[in-house]
Amino acid sequence: MGVEIYYFSGTGNSLHVARELKKRIPDTELIPLIRLLDKETIEISADTVGFVFPIHMAMSPGPVRKFIDKLDLKSAEYIFAIATRFGTPHRAFIDVENRLKKKGKLLDSFFSVNMASNDPKFDDWHEATEEEIADLDVEVQNSLDLIQKIILNKEQSRKKDTTFTSDMPAFSIISVFLPFLNRFYSVQFYSDSKCVSCGTCEKVCLSEKIKLINEEPLWQKEIPCFSCYACINYCPQQAIQIKSPRFLKTYTEVNGRYSHPYATVEDIARQK
Ligand SMILES: Cc1cc2nc3c(=O)[nH]c(=O)nc-3n(C[C@H](O)[C@H](O)[C@H](O)COP(=O)(O)O)c2cc1C
Repeated sequence: MGVEIYYFSGTGNSLHVARELKKRIPDTELIPLIRLLDKETIEISADTVGFVFPIHMAMSPGPVRKFIDKLDLKSAEYIFAIATRFGTPHRAFIDVENRLKKKGKLLDSFFSVNMASNDPKFDDWHEATEEEIADLDVEVQNSLDLIQKIILNKEQSRKKDTTFTSDMPAFSIISVFLPFLNRFYSVQFYSDSKCVSCGTCEKVCLSEKIKLINEEPLWQKEIPCFSCYACINYCPQQAIQIKSPRFLKTYTEVNGRYSHPYATVEDIARQK
């Protein structure tokens, strides 16, 4: 019985949405999905199940896909998904639904919510200001008021996504290829001389890839990165940078950082 919301959040946007939805829907439990990934099968006992996650390269993050594949959804009568993003088209819901179809289920409703970007590696990126975050939150709260009604009434809501904020019209075409590109390419992080060995990166690293060794963060090669960008955005010294591959210049040494104002280091680390 009740509602279970499974979430994944690198910098707090998706956590904020999940928390705000919990406030609006009685008998809702918020569950960080990372903790469950080691299980062979993840049994769901609620009749309403939701997934809240960010968009990464036009897709849901890898751990979210792995999580969905492990779900036993027999008891689920209503399934919804909410993706937070800065505003490009994406293929996450198509992909999630293809995974659900293998279990004889569909997404009853899905929603994309535009929030600030946590990806500082591009030249036109800027850290969202307090005012921008507040303006975006007005839209987030309005969307959640609608989403609340749809979920409480167990309505079907599978609207075409039109609320893009990105002025990259070609992105919908490119987005078809991004998931494939993502399989072969992941960014490399390193810490620069500003690092004070505080261990925040290790604490927030959702994949446990970062280990502080001899007081220096080490991104262990054998452990895959979840691309959550918690390390780079929560480092209090802004000492974590992204290496520039030749074909993609990155700007993390000059760009600022972003994390949702209500999401602390502890909130992110608690997902593990
Ligand atoms: C590696 C990476 C890739 C991203 N790709 C996209 C994208 O393709 N489209 C988009 O609109 N936002 C993209 N974003 C922005 C995030 O989806 C957005 O900021 C999200 O709300 C972050 O949620 P979180 O704080 O819960 O992790 C990307 C962010 C990262 C770190």
